[in-house]
Amino acid sequence: MSKIKKAIIPAAGLGTGFLPATKATAKEMLPIVDTPILQYVVEEAIESGIEELLIVTGRSKRSIEDHFDSNFELEKNLKEKGKLEMLEMVKETTDIQIHYVRQSYPKGLGDAVLQGKDFVGDEPFVVMLGDNIMQNHVPLTKQLIGRHERVQASVIGVMALPEDELSLYGVVEPGEELEPGLFPINHFVEKPSKEEAPSNLASIGRYILTPEIFPLLETQEPGANGEIQLTDAMERLNQTQRVFAHVYKGERFDVGEKIGYLKANLVFGLRHPQIKEDTQQYLKELANELRKR
Ligand code: G1P
Repeated sequence: MSKIKKAIIPAAGLGTGFLPATKATAKEMLPIVDTPILQYVVEEAIESGIEELLIVTGRSKRSIEDHFDSNFELEKNLKEKGKLEMLEMVKETTDIQIHYVRQSYPKGLGDAVLQGKDFVGDEPFVVMLGDNIMQNHVPLTKQLIGRHERVQASVIGVMALPEDELSLYGVVEPGEELEPGLFPINHFVEKPSKEEAPSNLASIGRYILTPEIFPLLETQEPGANGEIQLTDAMERLNQTQRVFAHVYKGERFDVGEKIGYLKANLVFGLRHPQIKEDTQQYLKELANELRKR
């Protein structure tokens, strides 16, 4: 049995939810306090044992490549000034090999994943979406790899979410629980209305997929929002091989939404060694202020 070594991070979306900030910058590069969203996702990949990453980029995404590369002038400047801690922070990411491919048209998540066909070859692989930051002592991707090693099939991360949020996600209809927190999937529905949602288990942007997904993506017709949906191809994959849902119980920040982004900044501020006391103090003052309203 080969170990899962490769991951695809689709980062070609237009980021319209964060305009004007994302007019000339990738939404994945927006910082949570001082660290870009994408860096958290790359760190999750490294902690999960991933060795090679493919980031699928698009227009206005050059900053992503620059971020994970070395910046000679900045490093020289910091070294000269003796700012060694900062120097450590900006060094090129060498714990993982990062490749890039551009998606010419934003045709949907399914099409973005298809750009990784040659990179992946004939092995199971990981897909990680940059809209969610997961924080857990065992990273979600590592949990999924563990499940995959047991069931030898595709496994996707899901989480129980409130009913009125389900229409923003792919939602699964689970079958009978196989082991605690692991369900075979009967059906997938992308962005269901409240009435159509088959459960409250939504896919949260972490997937282990078998390479048989690629020929299905190549022939996938556009679905919800007129886009080529990964969910629709997984529904077809599930006709010929089992696809499982693993229920994640750790912390998740939906940084693809304004409110989730703001919450993540507050929580990470409360944990940040340099500013945690000041953040706490300020939030207490603000809470007192708000109570008077
Ligand atoms: C995508 C997927 C959806 C999944 C979601 C998780 O939707 O299509 O199935 O639940 O990511 O964040 P998007 O957020 O791109 O609309």
